[in-house]
Amino acid sequence: MTGFARDIRRFCVMEALFVDDGFNRFMTRLGVNVDHVATLREARRGAEPDPVAAAILAELAGADGIVVHLREDRRHIQDRDVRILRETIRTALDLEMAATEEMVRIALDIKPPLVTLVPESRQELTTEGGLNLIASREKLEKVIHHLHEAGITVSLFIDPDPIQIKGAHKVSADRVEIHTGPYANSRGNAQKTELHQIMEAAKLASKLGMGVSAGHGLDYVNVAAVARIPEIEELNIGHSIISRAVLVGMEAAVSKIKSLMQRS
Ligand code: PXP
Repeated sequence: MTGFARDIRRFCVMEALFVDDGFNRFMTRLGVNVDHVATLREARRGAEPDPVAAAILAELAGADGIVVHLREDRRHIQDRDVRILRETIRTALDLEMAATEEMVRIALDIKPPLVTLVPESRQELTTEGGLNLIASREKLEKVIHHLHEAGITVSLFIDPDPIQIKGAHKVSADRVEIHTGPYANSRGNAQKTELHQIMEAAKLASKLGMGVSAGHGLDYVNVAAVARIPEIEELNIGHSIISRAVLVGMEAAVSKIKSLMQRS
């Protein structure tokens, strides 16, 4: 083994220890979705802000993974973003995508460690519901098989419904991501009922041997109750983090440009 290879190996072992230290094992992991950084960039079709830069800053702040949704209409994340993220981030990339031929081709080419299959419709503002594993079982089975052949772990975004959880197990999904949107959008007793359904779904998925994530609509007010569910290993959060980042960064951004405007 050359000195260079030995150094790289030592570095990788240290990284593995760092990522899997005792602290992380007892915490719910956080996947930061940077789609809306790209939404802002696409508003001007320019280069800023770059979701890749945002992903790296998120990692430095403690994100355990980076999530992007490459939509068919490319309204935010672009193919270039996925490629560069795959090469640059140090945590795991979770590529959210629809189960279409085009997306499967891209995933097989870029080979992210994790693909999350989501339903997608052109009219929706954001993902509106989980996959229907009963109606699209055959198609999903085929897509999952191709992704597995390439060594990609597959997660399915589904509602907290026992029929869908069992369906995910039947099509050989490695993980499920439980849709927390209805929980996030409800209040009072209705929200308690939604939380209970998420808990039961997480328990069932875990009992069936699948990894469990959850996400959609989680924010600084509603996240704690979901993070306490023991079977949920990871939460994927985008909109609320990007929204807060815009506000907490405002003061520094304005004072910097004021200082550049000052006449000497
Ligand atoms: N999980 C999935 C499958 C999603 O589609 C999204 C939104 O892109 C998220 C999580 C994150 O949701 P939010 O942006 O509301 O935090």
